Amino acid sequence: MSDIAALNQRFAIPGHISFKETDGMIVAEIDNLHAKASICLQGAHLMHWTPHGQPAVIWMSPAATLAPGKSIRGGAPVCWPWFGPHATRSDLPGHGFARTVMWEVLGTKKLEDNGTWIALRLVPTEATRAQWPHPSEVVLQIAVSATSLDMDLGTLNTGTAPITIGDALHTYFTISDIGEVLVHGLEGTKYLDKVDGGITKTQSGPVLIDGEVDRVYLDTAADCVIEDPGWQRKIRIAKRGSHSTVVWNPWIEKTKKMGDLGEHGYRKMLCVESTNAADDVVTIAPNKEHHLWVRYTVEAKI
Ligand code: BG6
Repeated sequence: MSDIAALNQRFAIPGHISFKETDGMIVAEIDNLHAKASICLQGAHLMHWTPHGQPAVIWMSPAATLAPGKSIRGGAPVCWPWFGPHATRSDLPGHGFARTVMWEVLGTKKLEDNGTWIALRLVPTEATRAQWPHPSEVVLQIAVSATSLDMDLGTLNTGTAPITIGDALHTYFTISDIGEVLVHGLEGTKYLDKVDGGITKTQSGPVLIDGEVDRVYLDTAADCVIEDPGWQRKIRIAKRGSHSTVVWNPWIEKTKKMGDLGEHGYRKMLCVESTNAADDVVTIAPNKEHHLWVRYTVEAKI
């Protein structure tokens, strides 16, 4: 039996979830009463979430490619077990390896509100152990519900010594136009400005983007709201287990160097990432878990 047939036999739920092959990758397709969503098993990478009757909420680059071992440009990459460059080894991949390795399906279920739930576990390999020699189990749960998309990235320390991780749900949101949107919820917050030598600044008012932005906001707990008058909607980002927030848009020059964002992609996307980034790392004692949880909701008509 093919992998796809076996997955469908074990985990498909009619009217909720099935598994397909796209460009050689296995993708979980959710299509329920409330929304459509898709998740690539490589990286446990949420690629789309579109509530019925809404424009897409999650942005996927028109130039994105699905390829073994390569991160997908768009969606919600899972950054783990570190965020950004590795602290000491420049040969290791930025944002960790979780987004480029295989995850396995642990379970699926129908939720009480007719939503759909899936849980995926990162499959450790020799290559991942070489980069991260710490016994741990990582599970991502995704719930596509009546009013929200929820993601819970759980790390269990299965060893006998404490482990320290950085992590993130590096989500790309779809917006009507970058010149239109504002991000609320970070007013008065200190941030490291990565496009200005990493110096610390303080956010005054809502965030508006009129050039390259790459900022790590520190000590953040409040919801962030992307206000998008162009589409008359607000996207609310609630979180727990994350004490920093990264706001990122590569703008024109960086987009050219990246090659997989599409020429005008930067106008249609904005990353508001719920992170444990920079000095905001998390130490997990043996047998303890850490959960990075987010809830995305859409409030239509501003
Ligand atoms: C953001 C970082 O989280 O991710 C940026 O703050 C980085 O510095 C961006 O450029 C994209 O990273 P990547 O590895 O997916 O190209």
